[in-house]
Amino acid sequence: MQIIQSIPPLREILKHWRGQGDTLAFVPTMGNLHAGHLHLMAQARSQADKVAVSIFVNPTQFSAGEDFGAYPRTPEEDAEKLRESGADLLFMPQAGEIYPSGAATFVEVPGLSERLCGTSRPGHFRGVATVVCKLFNLMQPDVALFGEKDFQQLTVIRRLVDDLNLPVRVVGVPTVREASGLAMSSRNGYLSAEEKQRAALLYRSLLAAKSALAAGERNFPAIEAAQTEFLLAAGFKPDYFAIRRPDLTEPSASDQDFAILAAAWLGRARLIDNVQLRA
Ligand code: PAJ
Repeated sequence: MQIIQSIPPLREILKHWRGQGDTLAFVPTMGNLHAGHLHLMAQARSQADKVAVSIFVNPTQFSAGEDFGAYPRTPEEDAEKLRESGADLLFMPQAGEIYPSGAATFVEVPGLSERLCGTSRPGHFRGVATVVCKLFNLMQPDVALFGEKDFQQLTVIRRLVDDLNLPVRVVGVPTVREASGLAMSSRNGYLSAEEKQRAALLYRSLLAAKSALAAGERNFPAIEAAQTEFLLAAGFKPDYFAIRRPDLTEPSASDQDFAILAAAWLGRARLIDNVQLRA
């Protein structure tokens, strides 16, 4: 596996691979890799001749007061895991190369970016859309893989790729969970052992809402309120609990397909998760 830390050598390698006729699958990450990330990697392997992973803790997707400084950075362990799982290239750029001084151009996906996580994290999806667009321009992958764990992020990226006619096929990969049901996340490291056990109740609340919908219940505010209460009683500080259509618009009683999404604080960690119901 080649580890590349700046753009000129990255371009060299990619040009060489393209010259050989190799296709490229790309997995963007912020590092501190866990089994969820490695599952994306494994899926990537089956999609193209070469697999590239990026690790970049993107400053523009963190608001002031969020955990940019504290975000776990474990580059050596990450590189080892990627080497073992058969990645061909690890790109770890410096912030100054991704955002050259005076950088003024941003990519925005309005509407989608302001709801759900966008309400409490203004500017977050603008930062995500911008860095993903930059990474796509640098990597020029044939296919890029993203986790359904960050369902709103995946939705924003699909919109961005369609709107800007980017020649990338976006693949969504199901969420990898602990045995308890807790979705794997780099931010789970902020939880104590006791909180980590309790954190699985977030998934439980999503499954309860899914069961209610599957049983024909269509009073969406009542389901959302009941699960918000459940999370409060379990010691979470819920940010939202939302039943939406799969495109994240408001549902109506005649719908059969839903995305159920929640974000809640537990201790120092802001946890997000979602489940899907398909007729
Ligand atoms: P990060 O949180 O490191 O996640 C990188 C990728 O791994 C994302 O596509 C995310 O959805 C996926 N992922 C995380 N946990 C997962 C799990 N338990 N199961 C399956 N996939 C999982 O998401 C980001 O980084 C950034 O916003 C990024 C897209 C890299 C832009 O900076």
